[in-house]
Amino acid sequence: MNVNNIKQQPEEKPLLSVKNLNIEIQMDNAVLNAVDGVSFNIEKGKTLGLVGESGCGKSLTSRSIMSLNPKECETTGEILYNSTIDKKMNNVNIVDLDPTGKKVRSIRGKKISMIFQEPMTALSPLYTIGNQIMEAILLHRTKNKKEAKKIALEMLRKVGISDEEKRFDQYPHEFSGGMRQRVVIAMALSCNPELLIADEPTTALDVTIQAQVMELMKSLQYEFGMAILLVTHDLGVIAEMCDEVAVMYLGKVVEKASVREIFYNPKHPYTKGLIKSMPKLGSEKKRLEPIEGTVPLAINMRNKCGFYDRCSERIAGVCDVKAVPDTQLSADHSVRCFLYSEYGEEEKNA
Ligand SMILES: Nc1ncnc2c1ncn2[C@@H]1O[C@H](COP(=O)(O)OP(=O)(O)OP(=O)(O)O)[C@@H](O)[C@H]1O
Ligand SMILES: [Mg+2]
Repeated sequence: MNVNNIKQQPEEKPLLSVKNLNIEIQMDNAVLNAVDGVSFNIEKGKTLGLVGESGCGKSLTSRSIMSLNPKECETTGEILYNSTIDKKMNNVNIVDLDPTGKKVRSIRGKKISMIFQEPMTALSPLYTIGNQIMEAILLHRTKNKKEAKKIALEMLRKVGISDEEKRFDQYPHEFSGGMRQRVVIAMALSCNPELLIADEPTTALDVTIQAQVMELMKSLQYEFGMAILLVTHDLGVIAEMCDEVAVMYLGKVVEKASVREIFYNPKHPYTKGLIKSMPKLGSEKKRLEPIEGTVPLAINMRNKCGFYDRCSERIAGVCDVKAVPDTQLSADHSVRCFLYSEYGEEEKNA
């Protein structure tokens, strides 16, 4: 059954609702607002893309859903989880849970799984591939070793690893990079999660393997009906995979819309810049337009737009001295930019 074809009832709650998530990190002389008022929903069976330049807070945001951020991170806000398979997990705020407690452990790896940014480090060189997949299954699905092995072999087959009986007893160094990534996906999916968080799952792979892994994730989503939070800086991957997109810049979501809106009707100057800097087929002779400048540190940025210094459409005296409001442009499109707020309009017309 294709869950993407199921029409979402209007009153149905999203699987995950992140509301005003803040992650502060105490530096030597200042506080870094690494994640600053981030809000988004992930609907059941759908894919949300989280995109933005390096250092904008994508990994911290996604790891906080697993309650896995380092202890120097001070996290506040809400990450409301609405499980469809466990009614006790209705409206649980993951931020309030003890990161080492029983409740988090019953969510992590079982109902919500994550593929980490550096997949090679997710596998131990000391244990066989089979043992590592079985470990998660034994922890969350069955205590029966025979049954766990059967599931592990089936997962290896599902992610396209042939000769699975032989491969089961091999070590990670005997696998290629693409195959190791498939194993990491098999591990993440072996417990049938409701939500898969994939943090740059293909960055370390060459393009052909990247396309295969993406196809694989899509087909597994189709089969298992899980939702995906896909973290990437690659807009091509976003276009290929996502239903909705949240664009992050300097710890904030600056634009949120359906994938179609983001590509055909981008509003935020940063989103427009990202799209312009993307290579397109048939335009080899045209020079790419990079976004000039670099991302500053998210310190004392609450009362100005973090993109101000790089923005070609900035309004001096507005964007650099005020907190930027979030403007809802339509039911599924919001943007955090003065150009679209009433205040910005007044200043432009003055
Ligand atoms: N443990 C930490 N201690 C101090 N600063 C941190 C820590 N973890 C992350 N940061 C900082 O928080 C900000 C956000 O980091 P994060 O890893 O979420 O970025 P990202 O968007 O995932 O970037 P990338 O695309 O490079 O993976 C960065 O400025 C980073 O330097
Ligand atoms: Mg990251």
